[in-house]
Amino acid sequence: MAKVTIIGAGQTGATTAHWLAERELADLVLLDIVEGMPQGKALDLTEALPVIGSDVKVIGTNNYKDTAGSDIVVITAGLPRKPGMSRDDLLETNTNIIRAAVEQSLEESPNAILIILTNPLDVMSQAAMMIGGLPRERVIGQAGILDSARMRAFVSMELGISVQNIHCYVLGGHGDSMVPLTRHSNVAGVPLNVILSPERLDAIVQRTRKGGGEIVGLLKTGSAFYAPSAALAQMVEAILKNRHLVVPASVYLDGEYGQSGIFFGVPAQLGADGLEKVIEYDLNDEEQAALEASAEHVHQTIKGLKEKLNIAA
Ligand code: NAI
Ligand code: 2OP
Repeated sequence: MAKVTIIGAGQTGATTAHWLAERELADLVLLDIVEGMPQGKALDLTEALPVIGSDVKVIGTNNYKDTAGSDIVVITAGLPRKPGMSRDDLLETNTNIIRAAVEQSLEESPNAILIILTNPLDVMSQAAMMIGGLPRERVIGQAGILDSARMRAFVSMELGISVQNIHCYVLGGHGDSMVPLTRHSNVAGVPLNVILSPERLDAIVQRTRKGGGEIVGLLKTGSAFYAPSAALAQMVEAILKNRHLVVPASVYLDGEYGQSGIFFGVPAQLGADGLEKVIEYDLNDEEQAALEASAEHVHQTIKGLKEKLNIAA
């Protein structure tokens, strides 16, 4: 049985364990710095397994030794942004958390593939790659599956058509500058810009861009966790089953889409070795300009990260 460790047993981490246990894909380790909490959630989930008929092992721990030999390490540890907190505050705190998680995970599981969720997502993925000294194939950030799933859900709600018929592609950085590609998105093969009026399409694009904030506004404390963790589970499955699955994900670009040196949301093919290939869409001038604007935003935040890590820009 494969082994998957989830660092951070909070809302997203525990829910990822839930989705993964149901899929019976791997033994699971939930690790957190809070004592007792990961152990309690793991035991509760273990007690659910007879009901759902899954024979995986789930353990909760505060000790990295228990994570040894993991095939995949999913990192959800970190703080979300709170009112009054600057981006730099978040960058500082979460970079330190990512550092601890990456260094200690790799000590126990030197060959693991890392999947990152912690925000600011593109920058934290880059921090993980740099801190771990890893090749780009082994660090993948989750954002695009979530952003695209939100758009798919909104299109389904609008048209009353199964989510299975709706394919949407949201690329770019995980933030307000993300780029929902309406021309490449379709409903059973019919492009979205044909099936929806410009007004309705624009409303869906805007709601997608602000999808994370909409949930934060409703929950008041904390941010989305069901959809983000379902996305993480899909990535874990694609790797463990060597599916060669193309999903929107944040990966380190090496010239693709005219970008280098940043993690950025693009269609990425995932298999047993992690990132297999970046798929390049044929973009028109408007789409390319939107991606460049989004990339510029990520480049700026990466500058802050490099200063923090003492790496020359
Ligand atoms: P949460 O607060 O429920 O859980 C975070 C957990 O990390 C807590 O249990 C905390 O004790 C733990 N933690 C903190 N420092 C740690 C350390 N050094 N080692 C191990 N565990 C540590 O937060 P939630 O909702 O699970 O979100 C986690 C992160 O994921 C946040 O940064 C959030 O903004 C981000 N996020 C990103 C999404 C994306 O699409 N990229 C979607 C949803 C959340
Ligand atoms: C989201 O989009 C918080 O990044 C997270 O829901």
